[in-house]
Order: sequence, then structure tokens, then C-alpha cells
Amino acid sequence: MRGIKILGTGTYMPDTVASNDWFSTILDTNDEWIYSRTGIRERRISEDKPNWYMAVEAANAAIKDSGIDPAEIDLVLAATCSPDYFYPALSCIVQNRTGASGAAAFDINSACTGFINALDTASRFLEDSDYRNVLIVASERLAPHCDYTDRSASILFGDGAGAAVITRNDKPMWSYLSAKGDFFSALWCKVDHSRSNCPLLKPDALPEGLLDTEAKTHTLQMNGKAVYKFAVDAMETAVHKVLERSGLGMEDIDLYIPHQANARIIESAVKALGLPQDKVYVNLEKHGNTSSACIPTCLAELRQAGKIQDGMTVCLVGFGAGLTSGAIVFNQ
Ligand code: COA
Repeated sequence: MRGIKILGTGTYMPDTVASNDWFSTILDTNDEWIYSRTGIRERRISEDKPNWYMAVEAANAAIKDSGIDPAEIDLVLAATCSPDYFYPALSCIVQNRTGASGAAAFDINSACTGFINALDTASRFLEDSDYRNVLIVASERLAPHCDYTDRSASILFGDGAGAAVITRNDKPMWSYLSAKGDFFSALWCKVDHSRSNCPLLKPDALPEGLLDTEAKTHTLQMNGKAVYKFAVDAMETAVHKVLERSGLGMEDIDLYIPHQANARIIESAVKALGLPQDKVYVNLEKHGNTSSACIPTCLAELRQAGKIQDGMTVCLVGFGAGLTSGAIVFNQ
């Protein structure tokens, strides 16, 4: 049996608030445009705290909430697409700073679908009796990767971290994971190799479909319309597929937690799926899109408010760069 139970959750949000009005001081935009097109009013920006710091804060909060000893954690998974270091893995820094010294640790990068992929991976490890508890942390510091002259992309993203400690459950869970590499050029951020002092290096060969310039290197590039279209379809497909696998109906789900990219994407998918709006949790007005951190941040907020209780059936659904998508249904 591959069931999971959330023992604890935690979150970390940087102090600095970047409101829509702040964006209107640096770009030709305004609160009305941003809110009506995205549902976002503000997001946080980590001025000086690195990604690992946010991850550790969220992870320690989740461990405290779980009530377990860090020594009882057998695996640390970090989902991130904005690490501070190529290596070590973010999960190794989290392992060190949380005292989970006996745990294995590795990272998962599937951008905004990261938490879904990490939770699915964790559940498969937990099927093996050697693994008692898994700490999953999803943390993103996207501000250094965003181009703040690009008004259609920079306004969407925020920084933050969310974490969960999970253990095995004797109730079932189901998942559906997908990747459409054909669309990789819809959302990408290239590593900057231009600072190498290797005299033999020439400019990188790029996969067909990417048009790189020096200005674009190391900043997030997005075809907003293509991603929007993909996202609505991916949410619908992932929910249908996971419910099909579970044999459950839409009405059997107590709570839907979608990736928080854009309120219009969520509304379109919710309408197409025929989901009751009051079962769908949305918090992007205050945080924007924090990529992999969105779903665990929602979980932490809901748990803190007492809205996730034992016995509830929860559906998580996400999508992101890759283009990747996936959904998980579990019984808490
Ligand atoms: N403020 C004011 N005007 C803006 C603007 C902003 N922040 N961003 C774009 N515009 C302008 C464009 O320049 C364009 O002007 P033009 O018609 O004079 O050329 C106009 O608004 C319409 O642009 P368009 O790109 O068609 O807007 P849109 O309705 O598609 O909204 C996004 C743009 C990015 C908000 C939307 O496409 C989106 O949310 N896509 C999904 C992105 C996403 O979720 N990515 C992460 C996935 S994990």
C-alpha cells in the first residue's frame, strides 16, 4: 500500500512585499491589469535570504509541527528550480540544518510540478519499510532569475518555501505524472556559462527552438499564451486521469489544491471540470506563483487553519516548466 499521511507542515515567506503598485513604479503596468489578468495583488521577494535559508526555515517548522525527532527522518527531498548551488543538492543543506543526520537526500527539479513529483517519489520510498518518515521541502527564490523589464512574466512570480513531513498510511493514494518535452521552449531559464575562463569554450549549442541572447541568459523566458493554454488543459487532464485511477468521483474529493499560477487558469479548469468552487483552495492573491512552493504553502495554511483533518480525501494538481504536470489523490 502506497498511502501517505501528512504529520506536519511549515512555510517561510520573505518579509519584503512587492505589490502591484510597486511594479507600476518600475514597469508600464498597473494593479488593475495585473489583478484582472492574474488574480495576484502582491508577492514576496527575498532581498537577501538565499533559497537554502528559506528551505531550512520551512523544513524546521514542518518538523516541529510533526512532533517527530529529526533523527526519525529517513529521506529529505528538496524540490527546486532555483537552487543557490549546482551542488551540493539543496536537500543536503536542509539535511545538515535540520538535524536529519541519518537521512538520504536528493533534489527533484520539475519546476512548478516539483512538490507533486516529490510527494509521489516519497510515497514509493515509504512503501519500503526501511523508510519511516520523509521530509519534503519545496523552496524557490525566483527573483534573481526574473527579468524585471519583462512586464508579462516578472509580475507573476514570488519567492517562498513550503515543507511537509510525511509518513506511511494504510489508506490508498493515486497519482498521475506527465511530461511533454515537446514544449520545453515555452518556459526556460538557461545557465550562464559565460564566466568560464576555459580558453576552449565556445558559445553553447542550443536545442532547436531556443533563441538565446546574452541578455536572456540566466533569466526566465516564457511564452505566456502557450503556457496558459497548456496549463488549463493539463489541470483538467491530470484531475481526470487521477480520478480514473482511483475510481473516485469528483464529489468524493473534500479539497482540491491546484498550483497557484494564475486565478484565470484555475477558474477555467475548475469550470471545465465542474468542480465546486468552495472545495478549491486559492491563495495566490498574496503570494503569486512561488513555483514548487505553492502547493505545500497551501497545505501549511490549510493545516494551520484546521481545514485538513484525518480521513479527508485531498487532490493536489500541478503543472510547470518542462512542460510537466501531475495530480495526486490521498486520504489523510
Ligand atoms: N501590464 C500591462 N500590460 C501588459 C502586462 C502588464 N503586466 N503584461 C502584458 N501586457 C500587455 C502586452 O504587452 C499586450 O499588449 P499589446 O496588445 O499592446 O501587445 C497585452 O497586455 C496583452 O498581452 P497578452 O500576452 O495577450 O496577455 P495575456 O492576457 O495572455 O496575459 C499572462 C499574459 C502572462 C498573464 C498570461 O498569458 C498567463 O498568465 N500565462 C500563463 C503564465 C504562467 O502561468 N506561467 C507559469 C506557469 S507554472
